Amino acid sequence: MYLGLDLGTSGIKAMLVDEDFLTVGVAHAALTVSRPHPGWSEQAPADWITGAEQVIGELAREHPQAMARLRGIGLSGHMHGATLLDASDQVLRPCILWNDGRSGPQCAELTARADFHGIAGNLVMAGFTAPKLLWVAENEPDIFARTAMVLLPKDYLRLWLTGEHVAEMSDAAGTLWLDVGRRDWSDKLLAATGLTRAQMPALVEGSDVSGTLRADLAQRWGIPRVPVAGGGGDNAATACGMGVMTPGTGFLSLGTSGVLFAATESYAPNTGDAVHTFCHAIPATWHQMGVILSASDSMSWLSEITGRAVPDLAALVPDDVGAPSPVGFLPYLSGERTPLNDPDATGAFWGLRRATGVADLTQAVMEGVAFAFADCVQALRKAGTPIEAAYAVGGGARSRAWLRIIASATGLTLLEPEDGDFGAAFGAAKLAAAAVTGDTSARIFAQPAVRAEIAPDPALAAAYAQKYHAYRTAWPHLRDLPA
Ligand code: XUL
Repeated sequence: MYLGLDLGTSGIKAMLVDEDFLTVGVAHAALTVSRPHPGWSEQAPADWITGAEQVIGELAREHPQAMARLRGIGLSGHMHGATLLDASDQVLRPCILWNDGRSGPQCAELTARADFHGIAGNLVMAGFTAPKLLWVAENEPDIFARTAMVLLPKDYLRLWLTGEHVAEMSDAAGTLWLDVGRRDWSDKLLAATGLTRAQMPALVEGSDVSGTLRADLAQRWGIPRVPVAGGGGDNAATACGMGVMTPGTGFLSLGTSGVLFAATESYAPNTGDAVHTFCHAIPATWHQMGVILSASDSMSWLSEITGRAVPDLAALVPDDVGAPSPVGFLPYLSGERTPLNDPDATGAFWGLRRATGVADLTQAVMEGVAFAFADCVQALRKAGTPIEAAYAVGGGARSRAWLRIIASATGLTLLEPEDGDFGAAFGAAKLAAAAVTGDTSARIFAQPAVRAEIAPDPALAAAYAQKYHAYRTAWPHLRDLPA
């Protein structure tokens, strides 16, 4: 038995699988995001522990015999968050999350101070960890002075589970302090942020053992003191769950964020159009991604302001969508990474009329997110990573209408995996199996069978080509328009 624990933005999930990776049990606990100022996005690390206690406790109660046979735990989590600890491992302030845009001004400052593009292989973007620490240094100097350790969100759960300060390569790459080609911290990039290696956790590969479960927790849950694997940032972990490990394979994720992920043969950075280049979660592999900040989160926002549940909204759009919505939508509700790299970008609806209904708005939101993915396809293509087909994953992928819209707007063929849950928690469980057995081959990281292929619909694709043109011209027009 292996346990995968995924710390998501909107909830934490634990998944128990057997040696054949068949699901034995799953448990969820919801998490909320606090937005104390426009552009800010934070979570209290204590809530992650409460959530983890709840989900692991639930599996221990419901599957005591299976849990007693546990062999390893793997971790996954939302990337880039800055969890600041003092010398006694006490949390100094709420974690600043991946979709927090406050550190825009610090990005320019860091870019001028050191060769982030060359060494870290990525643009300095507001969601990443390094500019957040410069923001803390400039705005909360007392907290910065007391910061003894900076951990990524899932690595804070690891500290609680094992007592160890450890990070792994795929998530560490999203801090901007990693030399992504050499897979080691960069003293130069740390110094540019006023930090040293002493404030960084030890590094392991995602498929390595990072520590052992604490005796008191093992006893509380009635499980052995198993190894905890390095695991992966949620995107690399999702790739491990889908067997997306080699060039030519990819996935499109419709989670809170939207991700178009492609495995690459080597370290091939290309910062144009804000393409992300990170380590993969197994040794000597890397990947590229286009990342959009509000994918399913755009639907959650529409649900909140209309008072209708997301599934009710999604049901308003027929599976066999025949024509574009008369309304246009820009999904930049939390700013945007790929391709704009602009934390201050804002969302918009246009084309509203007296007859516009919630169904038009919902379809427009789905289309706006689909065009943001079309931008990611273009950005990866320009970065030398053309992608034709991708597995569709994430909560939003349950909507067949949305997948059809995305296929027709992007030109991608979307692959719907057979029944099952192949997300980040599943990938984390597989990384646990790799750490325990030492096997990182396709035997563990197998690709799921494809249940349905959703290819672009030629008529819809032609209509979307025109609407994509309008989408591309909207932001340059709106950018300078005062609200
Ligand atoms: C990736 C990113 C998001 C988060 C979501 O760069 O910021 O996909 O990992 O959890």
